[in-house]
Amino acid sequence: MIRLGVNIDHVATVRQAREIDIPDPLEAALLAEQGGADGITVHLREDRRHIQERDVERLRGAIKTKLNLEMAATPEMVSLAEKLRPDDACFVPERRAELTTEGGLDVRSQQKKIRDAVERLQARGIRVSLFIDPDRDQIAASRETGAHSVEIHTGKYANAKGDRMRERDAVAAAATFARELGFEVHAGHGLNLDNVTPVARIPEIVELNIGHSIVARAIMVGMERAVREMKELMRQARGVW
Ligand code: PXP
Repeated sequence: MIRLGVNIDHVATVRQAREIDIPDPLEAALLAEQGGADGITVHLREDRRHIQERDVERLRGAIKTKLNLEMAATPEMVSLAEKLRPDDACFVPERRAELTTEGGLDVRSQQKKIRDAVERLQARGIRVSLFIDPDRDQIAASRETGAHSVEIHTGKYANAKGDRMRERDAVAAAATFARELGFEVHAGHGLNLDNVTPVARIPEIVELNIGHSIVARAIMVGMERAVREMKELMRQARGVW
């Protein structure tokens, strides 16, 4: 079994372009669920560029699957997450000028801060994942934080111009190591219909979080169908029909 978390941030990005109330991320989330999403993922950025607190509250009360909140591991955001109570939280690095999350967390250099944030959320029953590059040292450092899962950054694989399978193997090796250390293993970033299969075949990975390509496809064919197409490919990759 491999789960699909659909990231709907871009729906909020379109809404914020006009600062009105359409398109509604909640409506998108419900359609994604109808298409087979196993979870809904949103990134509540410190700059509130797209998703707003109100969106998280509304999603929390209405979706039937699970809510995964991506966030910076700062004390302010942790306090907010304690209040918003998502099922899962994923700590990501944040830089103000970035277009999207550019690299994994440097867990090694901020282990104590991350461990404190993990403890606070896990004490509230929120499972915490750390978004990290496919790097053994970062995985080993993640273990000291007590996090439940790691999400392996697949951006380098997705953007590889040359030997993409080498990058895929790096993701696979990281997944094996993380599983050996007891983590639940997730992956995401830059995945689309053309490149998802080799990652979905990695047996240790139990969840993919995908945003841009699904929302882009949803503009053309609708959210439900866009999610169904991705889910179908993931099922085929695992040999489950
Ligand atoms: N996982 C994490 C932690 C992310 O920050 C993002 C981007 O918001 C994704 C997955 C999804 O990446 P993409 O939008 O490229 O599918």
